[in-house]
Amino acid sequence: MLGSGGREHALAWKLAQSPLCDKLWAAPGNPGIAQEAECVSLDEDDHGAVVDFCKDNAIGLVVIGPEAPLVDGLADTLRAAGIDTFGPSKQAAQLEGSKGFTKELCQRANIPTARYERCTSLEAAWGALKKFDPPFVLKADGLAAGKGVVIAETRKEAQHALDEMFDGRFGSAGSEVVIEQFLMGEEASFFALTDGTAIVPIGTAQDHKRVGEGDRGPNTGGMGAYSPAPVLSEALREQVMRAIVEPTVRTMAAEGTPYSGVLYAGLMLTKDGPQLIEYNARFGDPECQVLMMRLESDLVELMQACAQGTLGEVAAPVLSDDFALTVVMAAEGYPGTPKKGGTIDLGEAEANGAKVFHAGTKLDGDTLTSSGGRVLNVTARGASATEAQARAYAAVDAIDFADGFCRRDIGQREVRREQG
Ligand code: AMP
Ligand code: GLY
Repeated sequence: MLGSGGREHALAWKLAQSPLCDKLWAAPGNPGIAQEAECVSLDEDDHGAVVDFCKDNAIGLVVIGPEAPLVDGLADTLRAAGIDTFGPSKQAAQLEGSKGFTKELCQRANIPTARYERCTSLEAAWGALKKFDPPFVLKADGLAAGKGVVIAETRKEAQHALDEMFDGRFGSAGSEVVIEQFLMGEEASFFALTDGTAIVPIGTAQDHKRVGEGDRGPNTGGMGAYSPAPVLSEALREQVMRAIVEPTVRTMAAEGTPYSGVLYAGLMLTKDGPQLIEYNARFGDPECQVLMMRLESDLVELMQACAQGTLGEVAAPVLSDDFALTVVMAAEGYPGTPKKGGTIDLGEAEANGAKVFHAGTKLDGDTLTSSGGRVLNVTARGASATEAQARAYAAVDAIDFADGFCRRDIGQREVRREQG
């Protein structure tokens, strides 16, 4: 398994539980992952070195956690070397790697998404703004670590943001910009596994992107999440499969770029039905943590079937009826420059069935310390969102991490709904 964050800890934890897994390696891993797998240092950019490691150790399945190596074509290199790999090809990963690619695919396949314009120059972008009303949604085309989207309230703000984007604020991700219509509604995420032909849902989730309570402050990679997302009723989930996910997978296959792996659809539930905001070519982080807490099926069997094109032959994923909720503990300063090196004592956090996934931790001798922005994902299950939330925060309160902070309102919207 490749990766080193909380998502990968959750994947490693679940993969290691499978009777099909004799031995799990993780590269580079982290101290939490090291409890599930043997961690090795491998440079994911060095595709040759990854292939050599897999051959030397007779690896049966490679799971690629994050998006960057997918967009970089690591899955192609591994498959070309005859190694089964969970994760889409470079071409297929454009569903995440290029907003313009995805918008055009939506247009060809008649998938509901916000009206848009693709602009490759500042002049064109300023011109295209005239076709939209505020608020303006501006997106750098390429991967920008979740920071490539600007929502501008006024035309002036939008023009300023476009200036910055074409001036390299997001590096090469900003050499092309998509401007789109602002969608109103509640956001939710839908996950499906596919081998390019068969498609099976693997849960829903909602996350909290803003750093501050009440969804205020700057955007982050996600400060917490819960699953399921009850706003995605069975009827809506069927509609998402039929109108969004299935036509995407079918069109990708028909056009010679079949998609395999997990497809993460970011949705806006508008009054006109679900619309696609974006696709990701990997599990969400921290959404993966709550999905893995609920997954009752064998993850190795499912991922292997995606890699081998046999997903239609294995049982579809089963998720527990329980809720799972994860609270991100971040280091002071995040999402700006996080303070590193703060000591962490997990205490009895896992005593009552909670699970603490490591995201940005490192061992200094025997002492666990923080080494990134998002540091821990404190995750618990319960019969309701209310119960899962109470258990997750009880676990948070058992942790001693003086330089850390978390939001105290993860899952609050769902808890309020439950309490009427
Ligand atoms: P993305 O990186 O495409 O997921 O966008 C980041 C966030 O921007 C999303 O989670 C939404 O909250 C918001 N967003 C993106 N596109 C739109 C849109 N067309 N209308 C409203 N909000 C949007
Ligand atoms: N939590 C949002 C993401 O993984 O993209």
